[in-house]
Amino acid sequence: MATQDNGVKSVTIGNLESAFAGESMAHIKYRYFAKLARAAGAEDVAKVFEDTADQEVMHAFGHLDLLYPKAQMTPAKALEIAIEGEVYEYTTMYPQFRHLAIEEGNSAAVAEFDEQIEESKVHAAAFQRTLEIAAKRFAALANVEERHANHYKATLAKLTAAA
Ligand SMILES: [Fe+2]
Ligand SMILES: [Fe+2]
Repeated sequence: MATQDNGVKSVTIGNLESAFAGESMAHIKYRYFAKLARAAGAEDVAKVFEDTADQEVMHAFGHLDLLYPKAQMTPAKALEIAIEGEVYEYTTMYPQFRHLAIEEGNSAAVAEFDEQIEESKVHAAAFQRTLEIAAKRFAALANVEERHANHYKATLAKLTAAA
């Protein structure tokens, strides 16, 4: 995540992360409310929730544009960030939540967290596989670029010698 030059995370970056979380939650919540409204026969209400949910996605994207600027991102970097998030979920977050759910005797939540631990493992593994395949492709591309650069340098040297 973006930090200031002194390595300290700025207040504004923290606020953008919070705002991104809020807009993302609003998006999913409105989708869920739309589902409930439709099941209750309130199609007009469902539509308003879905239209607003679409707007929240755009708000969240706006925050992401500042948190992960396009100029600083590559597909490989995006995969690394995604893997980090999924690994955090199944190694730290959900195990902690699971432990506390057991203490509170909430077996439905324990089952939910167990399911999410498995899902996060699957997601992390899929991203990892994709990254490994992509890494080979990026390395191959870098080789081609290096060959082109060397060819250019050799041609330039010949021209310079001939001049
Ligand atoms: Fe919003
Ligand atoms: Fe996931």
